[in-house]
Amino acid sequence: MMEVFQTVDDLRQARWENPTKIWGLVPTMGFLHAGHLRLVEQACEQNDRVGVSIFVNPAQFNNPNDLEKYPRNLEQDLDMLKQAGVDLVWTPTPQMVYPASYQTYVDVEQITQKLEGATRPGHFRGVATVVSKLFNVFQPTRAYFGQKDAQQLAVIKQMVEDLNFNLEIVACPTVRESDGLAMSSRNANLSPTARQNAICLYKALTAAKDALLSGQQSAEMLRHIMTEIIESTAMTQIDYVSVAHPQTFSELEKVESQALLSMAIFVDGVRLIDNILID
Ligand code: PAF
Repeated sequence: MMEVFQTVDDLRQARWENPTKIWGLVPTMGFLHAGHLRLVEQACEQNDRVGVSIFVNPAQFNNPNDLEKYPRNLEQDLDMLKQAGVDLVWTPTPQMVYPASYQTYVDVEQITQKLEGATRPGHFRGVATVVSKLFNVFQPTRAYFGQKDAQQLAVIKQMVEDLNFNLEIVACPTVRESDGLAMSSRNANLSPTARQNAICLYKALTAAKDALLSGQQSAEMLRHIMTEIIESTAMTQIDYVSVAHPQTFSELEKVESQALLSMAIFVDGVRLIDNILID
């Protein structure tokens, strides 16, 4: 039976009821979709018990309007998690996670300077802080994150290594709609026309990937291919288009072996990200 708690004390009591069980954690901000369920499914396969957190983390939003517009539906989320076989859900309030006396933050210094970190100041500080709190509260053996947030994944791996968190980070592939659009809670904020146009992210990434696989090694040319596809799609505005090193996130000049093709695009004002990793 799935249990749902708000306070840390209640959550901890349930988590430690049987100390021999191995726990997997899936951190989320709710408004769950098939991408989250994929993480839950993998967590269920690899652990005795699975915990999920649902918390729209104010500390990682650099824009108050974006925080307010972030979609929420707790009842629907809990139904989906129950169906998926989750054991424990933590749904704290912002005041519980960040009480008035709160003053500790986690800053991963270098890889957070690029891409998402450059255009969303403070975002990764908020992510690293809340994720380290989630790790301390659940004390899981494994934690599950999607490859769609490639830089977030790298930041969390770096934090786990630097701060000696005793757990394994498991990366899961991006789950896509049938037309290629990466699943995201933010897709719910797209109008029907914007939803159609949002396919341009995947189109641009696959065009660059195809060019790369056919021998185009100039990162500038690959960025140009992606930019043209986005710019020829109505309702779009580019935040960044990148061909970067997948560990340092520095922009490449020439793609020798590995590359992360990624972008953040506003489609009718909704900010979407996506990436393809070339290994
Ligand atoms: O990827 C997300 O949904 C969030 O950034 C996370 C990891 C749950 C932290 O709030």
